[in-house]
Amino acid sequence: MSDFSLILERLAATGKAESEHLTTLLSARGEHFAQLCAKAQEVRMRSVGSWVYLRGLIEMSNLCRKNCLYCGIRAANSSVTRYVLDAESILSAVTFAADNGFGSIALQAGERVGEVYTRRVTDLLQRISSSIKPQLGITLSLGEQPESVLREWKNSGATRYLLRIETSDPKLYRMLHPDNDLHSFSSRLDTLSNLRNLGYIVGTGVMIGLPGQSIEMLAQDLLWLQRQEVDMVGMGPYIPHMDTPLWHKRHEIPRAEERLRLSIAMVACLRLLMPTINIAATTALQVMQSDGRELAIRAGANVIMPNITPECRQNDYALYSHKPLAQENLLDALPHLQRQISLCGCEVQLHTPGDPLHFLNR
Ligand code: 5AD
Ligand code: SF4
Repeated sequence: MSDFSLILERLAATGKAESEHLTTLLSARGEHFAQLCAKAQEVRMRSVGSWVYLRGLIEMSNLCRKNCLYCGIRAANSSVTRYVLDAESILSAVTFAADNGFGSIALQAGERVGEVYTRRVTDLLQRISSSIKPQLGITLSLGEQPESVLREWKNSGATRYLLRIETSDPKLYRMLHPDNDLHSFSSRLDTLSNLRNLGYIVGTGVMIGLPGQSIEMLAQDLLWLQRQEVDMVGMGPYIPHMDTPLWHKRHEIPRAEERLRLSIAMVACLRLLMPTINIAATTALQVMQSDGRELAIRAGANVIMPNITPECRQNDYALYSHKPLAQENLLDALPHLQRQISLCGCEVQLHTPGDPLHFLNR
């Protein structure tokens, strides 16, 4: 057996790897890359099966108080038309998700804080919980919030929370964010640990192909995710946005095909390291290549997050360039998505929340 096969077999058998083994796997190309994806898919089939769960993503507002250097909706970008969806529009998107058998919804927005805002989200959560079937998982992705707020939202019906760490390397994190208290690496870590202690199903993730990011850092990201024992991971390629400070470093990053390859390799390695978590095939993959999400499904991902934000607002939630809009009519698109997923040897599982086995076993 070649060294590569040995490393792969050992990781698949034990769920453990050294950093230098991960860098070998992350560098796989051609036949080795195919072998890595196939092994991850094998582990996925025997640990979480062939199911793929749908999460309806609702982009509630693009207002944000932060200025992450890579993000298109950062506060300082004055070319964004800002919006806040009203409760009725959000509730109708939630009903759409429930009626069409989505396992969960994810309410996402830029980061805002304050009593009025907190209360508005609490009211919304209470309305959602009282009006829909209890088996619909409610996920929040609303940035860093004080522990008391996270507790209030949990008590109002939210069960899951997504907060990406973006990179587990503190120095790289600093390079990607303004140097102030609002953008502190340690606060982000603290929020993740609060979420865990409050009993949330916790999701995080990283961006792949950032300026200044080495393959060793990505291997460290994988080991960090494993140590954190997170339940869900969403990660995808970094996509430069013209109206951001990081745009001027766009020549320092790997080409699009390489960022896609690396992202899929990250998904495969993560499935081998954490067989029972939920891993999303992210929209950013679809930007790199139209079937990017399917490549991730074939490498062990088991969640897809179709955007169900009301049509008129989707243009304004551009975290990165060339973000695809939801299909004119998602209902027409769903059978197509189901077909694509079955071509990957998997099957869309409707009407179940699809809580990560990793959380249920915890
Ligand atoms: N490219 C890729 N992903 C991005 N995000 C923000 N900006 C970009 C970008 N330019 C991701 C971050 C954030 C999530 C909501 O979107 O990981 O946490
Ligand atoms: Fe705001 Fe999130 Fe964008 Fe940072 S990545 S600017 S917190 S929306």
